[in-house]
Amino acid sequence: MFSHKRADFGPDFLFGVAMAAHQIEGGQQDGRGPSIWDTFAATPGNTKNADNGTVACDHYHRWPEDLDLIRDGGFDAYRFSFSWSRLIPEGTGALNPAGFDFYDRLIDGILERGIKPLATLYHWDLPSALQDRGGWMNRDTAKAFADYAAVAAQKFGDRLTSIATFNEPWCITVLSHFLGAHAPGYRDVRATARAMHHVLLAHGMGIKAMREAGFKDKLGIVVNMEKCDPASDAPEDIEAAALGDAIFNQFFLDGVLKGSYPEKVTDILEPYLPKNWRDDMTILNQKLDWIGINYYTRFLYKADPSVPVFPFTQARGPLEKSNLGWEIIPEALTEFLVRASKRYPGLPIYVTENGISETDETKRTAFFDKHFAAMIEAQKQGVDLRGYIAWTLIDNFEWAEGFNPKFGIVGMDPVTRDRLPKDTYYAFKDMLTRKG
Ligand code: NOJ
Repeated sequence: MFSHKRADFGPDFLFGVAMAAHQIEGGQQDGRGPSIWDTFAATPGNTKNADNGTVACDHYHRWPEDLDLIRDGGFDAYRFSFSWSRLIPEGTGALNPAGFDFYDRLIDGILERGIKPLATLYHWDLPSALQDRGGWMNRDTAKAFADYAAVAAQKFGDRLTSIATFNEPWCITVLSHFLGAHAPGYRDVRATARAMHHVLLAHGMGIKAMREAGFKDKLGIVVNMEKCDPASDAPEDIEAAALGDAIFNQFFLDGVLKGSYPEKVTDILEPYLPKNWRDDMTILNQKLDWIGINYYTRFLYKADPSVPVFPFTQARGPLEKSNLGWEIIPEALTEFLVRASKRYPGLPIYVTENGISETDETKRTAFFDKHFAAMIEAQKQGVDLRGYIAWTLIDNFEWAEGFNPKFGIVGMDPVTRDRLPKDTYYAFKDMLTRKG
């Protein structure tokens, strides 16, 4: 059980769980177009055990029982994402009515259970047809995204509590175009710089389109933050960590909320960015209604001048770790929340993801409990923190890591796909439904 109770977080604090389309839905039939994650996972060597999202948790068919679990656990909100290629199979142009029907039923099902729907437009599954034309390297993809955002908002927006444009721009760009670990699997600095800029341009154009369609009070973005500590006290390691921090924890939010990129980063990426990127900064810089922070872990940075572009290496430190080897460092969550509220004042903040891959439930429950304490500390320090969304409801397709990691508070029988609530699910249920 948790040592906290609902009241500790103040009135109206929202608790939710998150999942994302490609990690759970399956259901590639009914007109869904292919996405970059279908083909990335179909290519040997890209995912552990050649796992893929073809069926995943079969949420496409089993969503009613998943929503029942969310309701019965006492959660206020469900954070989910739309599959762009289920709605618009080619990314632009013709709509897929069966896709719209699916999300209609899902959103109505969420609302019928008294849960708040928090939607994300882009959680990594770019329609393949857009990748064929260069994906995020191509500026036109930003326009395609804005059109998609407008259509989705028009159709579903009135029923949604919030709409995020993007989930974790760092992963969409650096992890996927520089480190090659996620779809589309590039290792190219020019592709990376372009993707970094075009994703944020798409965000700005999408927000603008949704505002023009009349949406207010619900538009935001979700970024991931990761603590960047120097591996030693050496000045060059401290500088390496500062550069890591600027890339990871500043570039994206500064881009959209300040209309500028950290100079440390543009000094390096300038030759690879689109020529007139500065002219776009006013489009990127749209007013937002909230920001979401996903937080998991940290890396230690060591300067290494022999590494081109970003001259450092990263390693894990000595702290307690999850079964994926991610260090557990809850106090960094306080730090990030305080920092975001100072750097981007006036914006409500949500923790939109936090969780641990673990098979030991005692450890999972303790992980959440410690991060709850870190949030309460942030609130004490004046952060306007409005909610906490746990990652994740059900063990699911953890991208390149396949189905091995176990982030769920509910497990899944690998054969029958039956949902199997774990101790931590009941800890949440106890905390969230307990009276008084
Ligand atoms: C980040 C992502 O948003 C989500 O898709 C992923 O499964 C979790 N964090 C855990 O890595």
